[in-house]
Amino acid sequence: MELRANSITVTDHDGNPVEVDGYHVDREDREDSTADKGGYDHFMLKEIAEQPRAVADTLLGRVLADGRLNLDEARPALEELHTVEKIVIIACGTSHHAGLIARYAIEHWCRLPCEVEVAGEFRYRDSILDRRTLVIAISQSGESTDTLMAVRHARAQGAKVLAICNVEGSPIPRESDGVLYTYAGPEVGVAATKTFLTQLTMCYLIGLYLAQTREPKSADKIDSVIAQLAAIPEKVEEVLGALDPVRESARSLADAGTVLFLGRHVGYPVALEGALKLKELAYMHAEAFAACEFRHGPIALLEEGLPVVVMVPSPKGHSVLHDRVVSTIQEVRARGARTIVIAEEGDESVRPHSDVLIEIPAVSPLLQPIVSTIPLQMFAYELALAKGNDVDRPRNLTKSVTGE
Ligand code: G6P
Repeated sequence: MELRANSITVTDHDGNPVEVDGYHVDREDREDSTADKGGYDHFMLKEIAEQPRAVADTLLGRVLADGRLNLDEARPALEELHTVEKIVIIACGTSHHAGLIARYAIEHWCRLPCEVEVAGEFRYRDSILDRRTLVIAISQSGESTDTLMAVRHARAQGAKVLAICNVEGSPIPRESDGVLYTYAGPEVGVAATKTFLTQLTMCYLIGLYLAQTREPKSADKIDSVIAQLAAIPEKVEEVLGALDPVRESARSLADAGTVLFLGRHVGYPVALEGALKLKELAYMHAEAFAACEFRHGPIALLEEGLPVVVMVPSPKGHSVLHDRVVSTIQEVRARGARTIVIAEEGDESVRPHSDVLIEIPAVSPLLQPIVSTIPLQMFAYELALAKGNDVDRPRNLTKSVTGE
């Protein structure tokens, strides 16, 4: 597999590959990611390391050389996009978290109402769907029963269903109106990692595509986000090279009973994902809150030494939210908690309040989850190892939950 930094292959209108800044992955290379550990101790570690390439593979062929997006493969669902009045995202587990992040992006870029719901609840609710509703079903395996049943329920009510999936030909894409594959390659570790990052990438592509098609936001702004998304595999690589502090901090917390995660805006679903990873892998009690809700109850949980992981919004992109989160960190620390802070590099305002500071590269604020999730994956991996758990096959879990 060839992965060269600083260039990305996109296709022109005639389907010819063109290199631009970002990453280069040859189309043929998509297939050769094999299901062996390739020298890594665990599949999960390998799959975390594969994320720059996995994300590049999701982008491949979909970002054209002129900056326009090509999602024609998803037809016929996307053909009717101009008639879409509402988006409903359905998914389970980690895929649901990708949907929660997508909502912020879709509503902001496209000015379309977007609901996100766990698939198992969605189909037992009298949700209001019609031909102008686009349902996006996100499923790595393409076979989670709750999501599949929700797809059937949505189609029975006349909604169009677009699947985001990693397994070609699996039941959910087969039963949907259209599908966009993530091309992350096989994921063996039970806890989702690279499939999550590629689902996010696919959601961003759909949001930006809708924005280009419907043109509610300034075209310049959308073009600039597309350019940043095209170059994001390089940022993912950067994060992978800077994970030592998070690994060290995780090892020191093997005896902690509880870990809390706080975030705001897109950082909130990232916090949910961090807590889920920790439950799945380290079998620890982990809970995530929107930082704004913390004072409305959960703050009573704070005690000396309690680890609290905080996702800090970009100081430039979201200055108001950023400052609020910094105040929360101060408040949490004043009550003796141990703060593990994930913040944009160069954000000096958090340093004095951080017991551990993990820096991530600056990216467009809505894209931040692509880089900010990685330290949380590694945090859970390292804690699971420290506890002697089987990281690739955590107890009681299966890769996909079929049956109710
Ligand atoms: C299981 C897995 C999770 C996954 C969820 C949804 O619970 O353990 O890692 O996020 O199913 O799976 P899907 O294949 O539909 O994305």
